[in-house]
Amino acid sequence: MAKWPRKLRSAEWFGGQGKNAFMHRSWMKNEGLPADVFDGRPVIGICNTFSELTPCNAHLRTLAEHVKRGVYEAGGLPLEFPVMSLGESNLRPTAMMFRNLASMDVEESIRGNPMDGVILLVGCDKTTPALLMGAASCDLPTIAVSGGPMLNGNFRGAPVGSGTHVWKVFEDVKAGRISIEDFLAAEQGQSRSAGSCMTMGTASTMASMVEALGIGLPDNAAIPAVDARRHVLAHLAGRRIVDLVKEDVTMSQILTKRAFENAIRVNGAIGGSTNAVIHLVAVAGRLGVDLTIDDWDRLGRSVPTIVDLMPSGRFLMEEFYYAGGIKAVMRALGEAGMLHLDAPSVAGGTIGEIIKDAPNYNTEVIRDFANPLTPEGGIAVLRGNLAPNGAVIKPSAATPALMQHKGRAVVFETIEHYHARVDDPALDIDETCVMVLKNCGPRGYPGMAEVGNMPLPAKLLKKGITDMVRISDARMSGTAYGTVVLHTAPEAALGGPLALVQDGDMIELDVAGRRLHLDVSEAELAKRKAAWVAPTPTGTATGGGYAKLFVDHVLQADRGCDFDFLVGQRGAAVPRQSH
Ligand code: FES
Ligand code: MG
Repeated sequence: MAKWPRKLRSAEWFGGQGKNAFMHRSWMKNEGLPADVFDGRPVIGICNTFSELTPCNAHLRTLAEHVKRGVYEAGGLPLEFPVMSLGESNLRPTAMMFRNLASMDVEESIRGNPMDGVILLVGCDKTTPALLMGAASCDLPTIAVSGGPMLNGNFRGAPVGSGTHVWKVFEDVKAGRISIEDFLAAEQGQSRSAGSCMTMGTASTMASMVEALGIGLPDNAAIPAVDARRHVLAHLAGRRIVDLVKEDVTMSQILTKRAFENAIRVNGAIGGSTNAVIHLVAVAGRLGVDLTIDDWDRLGRSVPTIVDLMPSGRFLMEEFYYAGGIKAVMRALGEAGMLHLDAPSVAGGTIGEIIKDAPNYNTEVIRDFANPLTPEGGIAVLRGNLAPNGAVIKPSAATPALMQHKGRAVVFETIEHYHARVDDPALDIDETCVMVLKNCGPRGYPGMAEVGNMPLPAKLLKKGITDMVRISDARMSGTAYGTVVLHTAPEAALGGPLALVQDGDMIELDVAGRRLHLDVSEAELAKRKAAWVAPTPTGTATGGGYAKLFVDHVLQADRGCDFDFLVGQRGAAVPRQSH
């Protein structure tokens, strides 16, 4: 033990001549590791969300091998370990229900094991926040490496965007515009390679957040999963994490309030997912950074959406990468005075140094500030008697004419009620109505499923209607679009005002005024509240187990849906001996 300039955390396991050191080293040697790798060099944990049940992350074992090359090269010892993987497309009732569980897995795996720095291999939506949250509670030097997006979807010569296309062709079937055979045939055109959704859905948004926060390397967001440069990025991250251990740059030195402020601006400029609001608030909560949904509104208000990607716009992640990616977007934001250029990056130096000469190769994909896709992008936070603790809407994905709207409520008490009722020809609904969905919040669903962009009634789709105001306590997929108000807090299952809406009530949405108002008198609402009965738990929440832990401890959407007992840092002090 000597070479490394200071004694590292891992040396508490692998250093010395006692019984415990013998034990820790001896078992590791069954992996074929030579004795000198335990000489005090940094041990880098590679926290891997690989799973064949998470198609978006199924290629991450290959990526881990490239990280390892870099770690070895820089004189470290890489050790890959699996954590719970959350696949958005398969996991029920919703991957969101398990984000906090995965974060606990990550946190305890890091703290309980011999490692000095961590690489987080992330991809599919919830894997990114889960790993950032868990690692943030430990606060070792950390770099996140995203798996990268799939190649552009293509079907019969037309681009197909992950998720976005599903919502669209499903509406086409309901409206009778395409046949069921064509609908099913489109399935094969969507997912053409390894990687995550290639729209600006939640996965691409969170990969962009990683880059904007400075906790990932430049170009982390957009290099396609199968592009050799994705492997180079992983390799470089492996080298770089060893430096971060040397310099003792921990996560909390990178993820300051200013870094989060930068990320929120970038989210506005890329037309990023509403899910990022919840996830960044949760990550910040782990670090003790005071970030609220009002920061989202304040910082997002003036940011034009300049990235023309689905679901808000036309293009996909491949074009975004070729156009210059997040660096080009951040340069535009920086030149408009909308970034903290002195924020640090795990790459070394400042964000300002990284982006200062970043080229934009295609101003159709990454537009100029003078010619934006949506002049005021960002995420708007609405308040009013219907959402005392806030609700969100993504203006870039909404219909401008509906952003100020007053309409009659058509209420769906649960998601089952919605499914049973929405396509009933007798349902009294027209395009001026406001669709209200209850009991799909964090506790109500439970897990706050992505059902807020409820498809429109078939009879209105057949009339050619493409959008209506929709309000719920649910989330929506980052790949979805529409004039959809989400994350209403407090949620209906807790007796929030959303629970009191009845068919025929008038609701007023005013996005410019940031207002969501239920036009019912205080006295009438008080009467309804007195008669309100909490819904009996449904689905997985009835049988105890993790679902019970979830409903008992999950915070509301405006607090990031973390568990009350997980907020904050608990550090990475070496636990006591196991034997
Ligand atoms: Fe995994 Fe979209 S389903 S990234
Ligand atoms: Mg999703």
